[in-house]
Amino acid sequence: MALTRLVIHDFRNIEACDIELSSGFNFLIGPNGSGKTSVLEAIHFLGHGRSFRSALNSRVIRHQQPSLTVHGRVKTQDGILLPIGIQKRRDGSADVKIGQEKGQKLVALAKVLPLQLITPEGFELLTDGPKFRRAFIDWGVFHSQPGFFEAWTRVKTAH
Ligand SMILES: Nc1ncnc2c1ncn2[C@@H]1O[C@H](COP(=O)(O)OP(=O)(O)O)[C@@H](O)[C@H]1O
Ligand SMILES: [Mg+2]
Repeated sequence: MALTRLVIHDFRNIEACDIELSSGFNFLIGPNGSGKTSVLEAIHFLGHGRSFRSALNSRVIRHQQPSLTVHGRVKTQDGILLPIGIQKRRDGSADVKIGQEKGQKLVALAKVLPLQLITPEGFELLTDGPKFRRAFIDWGVFHSQPGFFEAWTRVKTAH
């Protein structure tokens, strides 16, 4: 699966942007503060429904704006181009769309846009406890094993 197009509105300092992405490597180049990390953050938002830099929506939504939106086009393994999108408002409410269907759950987005984030802070994988390493691996398994999510939910409930 590959993210082949990314459309962002009112996300951090990005008022509007529309990028065609390569299905291979993509490099983002620009001055400090120009929004490179914000683009990565927007992709993360599209796949997880939240930022990796802040838990507060008010930090991520562009100043003075009521909501942010991130849309993408995912090329599936069968070569189908699937439009996906999320809109998040300041009160935390969200609308998720996959294909033509509105009102989807965040977990459905996570299934169509598999993401694995490694940041400069990622050394916590080595320095912090096994909990972090398990969470990292769990997330990888989520995408490769179809039964994982259901089993993982049951284990969490049993704890
Ligand atoms: N909610 C927001 N609204 C508007 N601008 C923002 C908001 N949050 C952060 N910014 C600005 O957006 C920019 C984000 O830059 P960043 O993505 O970190 O750039 P880079 O990774 O290219 O250095 C910074 O200049 C910051 O001041
Ligand atoms: Mg940066």
